[in-house]
Amino acid sequence: MRVTIFGTGYVGLVTGACLAEMGNHVVCVDIDTAKVERLKRGEIPIFEPGLEAIVRRNHVSGLLDFTTDAAPAIAHGEVIFIAVGTPPDEDGSADLQYVLAVAGTIGRHLDRYAVIVNKSTVPVGTADRVREAVAAELAARRAAIEFDVVSNPEFLKEGAAVDDCLRPDRIIVGASGARAVAVLRKLYAPFNRNHDRMVVMDERSAELTKYAANAMLATKISFMNEIANIAERVGADVELVRQGIGSDPRIGYHFIYPGAGYGGSCFPKDVQALERTAHSHGYEARLLGAVEAVNRQQKTKLFELISHHFNGELAGRTIALWGLAFKPNTDDMREASSRQLMEALWNAGAKVRAFDPEAREETHRLYGDRDDLVLCERASDALQGADVLAVVTEWKAFRSPDFAGIRAALAEPVIFDGRNLYEPATVEEAGLAYYGIGRGRSLQIRR
Ligand SMILES: NC(=O)c1ccc[n+]([C@@H]2O[C@H](COP(=O)([O-])OP(=O)(O)OC[C@H]3O[C@@H](n4cnc5c(N)ncnc54)[C@H](O)[C@@H]3O)[C@@H](O)[C@H]2O)c1
Repeated sequence: MRVTIFGTGYVGLVTGACLAEMGNHVVCVDIDTAKVERLKRGEIPIFEPGLEAIVRRNHVSGLLDFTTDAAPAIAHGEVIFIAVGTPPDEDGSADLQYVLAVAGTIGRHLDRYAVIVNKSTVPVGTADRVREAVAAELAARRAAIEFDVVSNPEFLKEGAAVDDCLRPDRIIVGASGARAVAVLRKLYAPFNRNHDRMVVMDERSAELTKYAANAMLATKISFMNEIANIAERVGADVELVRQGIGSDPRIGYHFIYPGAGYGGSCFPKDVQALERTAHSHGYEARLLGAVEAVNRQQKTKLFELISHHFNGELAGRTIALWGLAFKPNTDDMREASSRQLMEALWNAGAKVRAFDPEAREETHRLYGDRDDLVLCERASDALQGADVLAVVTEWKAFRSPDFAGIRAALAEPVIFDGRNLYEPATVEEAGLAYYGIGRGRSLQIRR
């Protein structure tokens, strides 16, 4: 099929590449000229496992192309995806300016029936607004062209995006007409061979499904962080509690890891946006507010532990930091817990020596050259000349480090484990002091 995708970010680029992989002719449109030029040269602007190979292969074979020119791209697509960003507005609600700008562009150039598919995460009612924006442009040029607007939210996870896109758990399609559903059934047929993953519903339910999914996942994390904070105070070990509750199949082990708070481009903004949607409809979503508040507080946790350890005297100290990306297997730094920690350390007069397997370039792009930040090529380099080590992202490479080497390199042998990667006893046996999240038992032993 002929597919057009607006936005070549994490969602648009992965979706475009995966649809091309299935034999569709895909044109990706972006307003970022530099990004489009890089993609045309075969350079992938983001780190996402498996993405480079699939983009290159399909670009070379002619199934996947990139452009900044919207008009021919709209003429090309029988299915036109909107996969542009929906960042938070000043009040936390989703900013729809990019989505509506694309809708207007489509309306200005559409010359025959197409299905317009909204893949961006957008508040309930946006399908209607997109429909209105397209219709207004068509009316302005007196064009009687039929089109459908479908809500098809994306559930891929950064770090496993290609795999999620090729093997989705479910394909949510919110549509009000049979014609559009039939088009999407055809497009998604190759992803449905094992069993039918398509769940068809109305647009509003589809839009809410995406927010509900992210809000549920964020709730699980904040819930566990709350339990960790209680565990710390009552002298329990949250890691034992986690295993204890995870064994209940009604709860399960997924997504109940306590840590230094959730980040990324989705959970923080989507929880907030859903709260705003509820508020604008006269309902105060108190649980969502609490989920967000717990997370905000949790993101200060590592700094508080470090500051407490040094009696609030951080000026002149150097902190080694392992992990900058908001989670492993990505270079995405949006709302990353590492940023809050680094900024708090800098404000307190400390320096940071940081290592991340993929996010160093992005960190440099965000913060530039500064005296209080050294981006290191290796994890061991970050330890050189540092006082203590803080682990912020749970990259696999950090899971079984050389504790003796860490002890020898640090001025003060202390690990602040923001993701509970290590067993306190193992760390302590290696001669290092250990601070984790909610591991009250180990704190008591040390006391
Ligand atoms: N990143 C994720 O893991 C993820 C997962 C599921 C859903 N989503 C949602 O998908 C949407 C996109 O997220 P993302 O992370 O891919 O965003 P992103 O910021 O990585 O990419 C958005 C792209 O859209 C481009 N763009 C903006 N205006 C445009 C226009 N008028 N025409 C063409 N291109 C334009 C930007 O230049 C950018 O390249 C958001 O609503 C997000 O909430 C993201």
